[in-house]
Amino acid sequence: MQLDDLYRRVIMDHYKNPRNRGTFEDGEAVTVALNNPSCGDRITLQMKVEDGVVKDAKFQGEGCSISLSSASMMTDAVKGKSLTDAMNMAENFSCMMKGEEVDFDYEDIEALSGVNKFPARIKCATLAWNAMKKGIEKKNEE
Ligand code: FES
Repeated sequence: MQLDDLYRRVIMDHYKNPRNRGTFEDGEAVTVALNNPSCGDRITLQMKVEDGVVKDAKFQGEGCSISLSSASMMTDAVKGKSLTDAMNMAENFSCMMKGEEVDFDYEDIEALSGVNKFPARIKCATLAWNAMKKGIEKKNEE
């Protein structure tokens, strides 16, 4: 199997079986709603942060396979990370979108590396990650 096919399968698996889709019932989660200005698609991300660690994350929204699979991967990968590590991971994701080679301990994310060849889709892939960064900034301001 070619790497591209493998990557496509990973992306479609997250799109069809999104991890962490939903909302938290209590009011303890930091919430960020963001949209992709180029298409109007939107996601709402919620993260439960305790003692500087992301304990849990969920998302909801409308979007393409790239944006929703990226949100699925990001919400899985961010769980258990300190806010600093989560920010570093978002930074690594930005580097990957610029074509740099980056390793993630949650390897599925690397399936999105090919997106850097399609500039119009980079906004799709980064939507959830930008929401995560905003959520952490919000938390740090509290
Ligand atoms: Fe809207 Fe991808 S086309 S987020």
